[in-house]
Amino acid sequence: MDDRVAQVLELYHERLQAEREERNAGIHRPNSERFLAVGRRTGQLISILELGTSYGYSTIWLAEAARTAGGRLVTMELEPHKIAYARDMAERAGLADYVDFRHGDALSLIGRMDDGIDFVLMDLWKDLYVPCLEAVLPKLAPGAIIVADNMRVPGGEDARKYQQAVRAIPHMLSVPLPVGTGLEVSRYLPV
Ligand SMILES: C[S@@+](CC[C@H](N)C(=O)[O-])C[C@H]1O[C@@H](n2cnc3c(N)ncnc32)[C@H](O)[C@@H]1O
Repeated sequence: MDDRVAQVLELYHERLQAEREERNAGIHRPNSERFLAVGRRTGQLISILELGTSYGYSTIWLAEAARTAGGRLVTMELEPHKIAYARDMAERAGLADYVDFRHGDALSLIGRMDDGIDFVLMDLWKDLYVPCLEAVLPKLAPGAIIVADNMRVPGGEDARKYQQAVRAIPHMLSVPLPVGTGLEVSRYLPV
């Protein structure tokens, strides 16, 4: 982690510790004054999953986000030569330590993921979006976000089926976002 990020996080940790001590001493501040932060353990556990690495362009963005958040990225890809290229680029960017490259069919690899995934970028072949959504659903952390690409371009039947499927899931709030080739952004918040 970058020194400046670590220093700022340390300031938060001191403040959170002070809040804890106040609470233990019976001092109750109103919520508007409390930081209400997720805390170090949860922050460290931010888990990002990318379905469809290709040559690793989106991987670099996600790995940078993982580094910033103190989390980790798992990225899945069928083609070994693409993984080799993406790994090389992640090394050149100084991000390789934050990325776990997994080679194979994402649909079966998802089953081996631990629970508690916080963010998913869905960007593999479009006919796999619905089966991957079904596979990933039981692994999501409360509040998890799924971003699915290519809703407008190429769009079509597969995109429409994905939007229907994701919007039909109980406790899933899902909206289209006209960014790039069209995103569907979904938040899973089971009660
Ligand atoms: C649109 S590209 C991903 C682009 C990448 N996310 C980016 O923005 O740089 C889709 C990738 O998904 C991979 N893919 C397709 N089906 C897959 C599967 N079942 N498991 C893993 N990867 C798959 C393809 O080989 C291809 O490289």
